[in-house]
Amino acid sequence: MKEVRLKLGNSSYDIYIGAGLIVQIGQLLKKAGLDGKAVIITNPKVKSLYGDVIEQNLTGEGFKVIVLQIPEGEEQKSLEVAGSLYRELSTFYAERTTPIIALGGGVIGDLAGFVAATFLRGVPFIQIPTTLLAQVDSSIGGKVAVNYGRLKNKIGAFYQPRMVISDINILKTLTPEDLSDGLAEAIKYGVIWDKELFSFFESNIDRIKALDESLVEEVVFRSAKIKAEVVEKDERDFAIRNILNYGHTIGHGIEAVSEFKVQHGEAVAIGMIAAGKISHKMGILDKNELIRLESVIKQAGLPTKVPDLDAGKIIDAIKHDKKILKCKVRFILPKSIGSVFITEEVNLSLIREALID
Ligand code: GLY
Repeated sequence: MKEVRLKLGNSSYDIYIGAGLIVQIGQLLKKAGLDGKAVIITNPKVKSLYGDVIEQNLTGEGFKVIVLQIPEGEEQKSLEVAGSLYRELSTFYAERTTPIIALGGGVIGDLAGFVAATFLRGVPFIQIPTTLLAQVDSSIGGKVAVNYGRLKNKIGAFYQPRMVISDINILKTLTPEDLSDGLAEAIKYGVIWDKELFSFFESNIDRIKALDESLVEEVVFRSAKIKAEVVEKDERDFAIRNILNYGHTIGHGIEAVSEFKVQHGEAVAIGMIAAGKISHKMGILDKNELIRLESVIKQAGLPTKVPDLDAGKIIDAIKHDKKILKCKVRFILPKSIGSVFITEEVNLSLIREALID
């Protein structure tokens, strides 16, 4: 097992990464001083795969457990669903010391985290991410939220988990598409922060896709380490944490215009390349580095070009989000592999060119 410590004073926590960790959950919770009742929030698919093992493990360690299931889908991240979870928690007589365990991907993590942050003004929150995307990104850093109308992820909190438990074995039941989706966020860390991690992907992407255990563990470990380092510097996302949004400005536009048919990682992959093209057209990113970026993304099984979507609509979607929050469109652009800069000065015509290129 590998460990990353995310250091945030009293809110510091450990991220455990390894194969077979779900049968150690009870012990890890007890080590953190938790006992009594525990609530697992998950979806039916994840429950059928891992719910019973985890429930038995917790029960064996003396916890009284309930498992609350919500259907799959981004639309579950709503105040209504949070309300129904509050009711279940009250019926279970959950207390301020009762941990809420998010067992699932980004939707479950965001929703369960929002509920944990708000129920009784905050109860202990445990992340057990079951997708690569959640293991390398969304389970770390304490961003929890629900959606409200067109306000995606805008009703929420910074609420750090007590621990993150990333079991590499769980990734074996992912589809190749879901695995690629997570790889997009992991590749992102190579571009924004760590050129050696980027080279690691160039050398090993096929074996990573084939789920070589030690390589996948390394990917999750190195990604978690970078995310922890960035979050430690800027928990509230006023400055450097912005760089984690590399590929996301255009990515969010693509997701919105495709009505979320394009998956998050796919949209981010296209967004990362488009941002690379913008930087190249601005005379900053070297052509060779842009080619390396496109090549790794392609090898990871991700799209490199905007699907059959109207570039104008994507630009409108990008502008719309910002307009309702009265802020400028901010881009994270690569200077070179391993280093990015933040700018609000990207010409709209350059965005269009990058999208249709
Ligand atoms: N996923 C971006 C962040 O956590 O800030």
